[in-house]
Amino acid sequence: MKTLFPFLGYSLQTGDCHRELPRGLEYNSMTFGKGSLSYEEAVFLFGLVVGMKPRVVVETGVETGASTLHLAAALEHQNYGKLYAIEKDPRSVHEVQRLVETLGYQTRVQLLLGESEDFLADPAFYQAVASPVDLAFLDTSIPRRVTELDLILPHMRPGGLVVLHDTNPLHPMGDMQVEHELEDLRTGLRFIHMNSPRRMTLVQKEL
Ligand SMILES: C[S@@+](CC[C@H](N)C(=O)[O-])C[C@H]1O[C@@H](n2cnc3c(N)ncnc32)[C@H](O)[C@@H]1O
Repeated sequence: MKTLFPFLGYSLQTGDCHRELPRGLEYNSMTFGKGSLSYEEAVFLFGLVVGMKPRVVVETGVETGASTLHLAAALEHQNYGKLYAIEKDPRSVHEVQRLVETLGYQTRVQLLLGESEDFLADPAFYQAVASPVDLAFLDTSIPRRVTELDLILPHMRPGGLVVLHDTNPLHPMGDMQVEHELEDLRTGLRFIHMNSPRRMTLVQKEL
């Protein structure tokens, strides 16, 4: 199988990185870092940007840049909008910055080094990104993502989407219990579960 994004320079391997999960063999891994999102999930993120036409996109958890580069490629495709990508590992930020420059995506991506919760709790961050945020992708360590969602929700544009990765209760690294933990936030929110092996949950503030 060929990728839709040959310019990103990766190839595909059969099976999600957690191929033991239901439908794990129907999905493909990218030769990015071990454990990055599946190719199909990356295509889905690309499509979300193309379909939603966001101006402000926030990502937490960059690692080797698989999700970052697909989001950036989609912003570049529409020729406007910016991704603010937060990562606490300086080696990751350094390496992905190099990839961003190689691909010419500097105007589309700003990599931010630090703890996601520090950025997402700071009003100055939202002033700097000119919020409201149109689209967010949360992909740091699994237990943190619900807190990140809680922090970013007040800054989302009504109708905007927050995407949480790895929400399948069967995930080998543990059940995030998104719905359970967010029970008190449910009013005014919609949840949609995208049934990839590790699962993605889309959270939307009602329009
Ligand atoms: C699952 S990986 C991200 C995968 C990436 N989105 C991809 O598609 O390849 C998780 C990343 O989150 C980073 N991380 C974990 N906790 C964090 C935090 N509190 N703040 C910022 N980054 C964090 C880790 O250093 C790691 O690089």
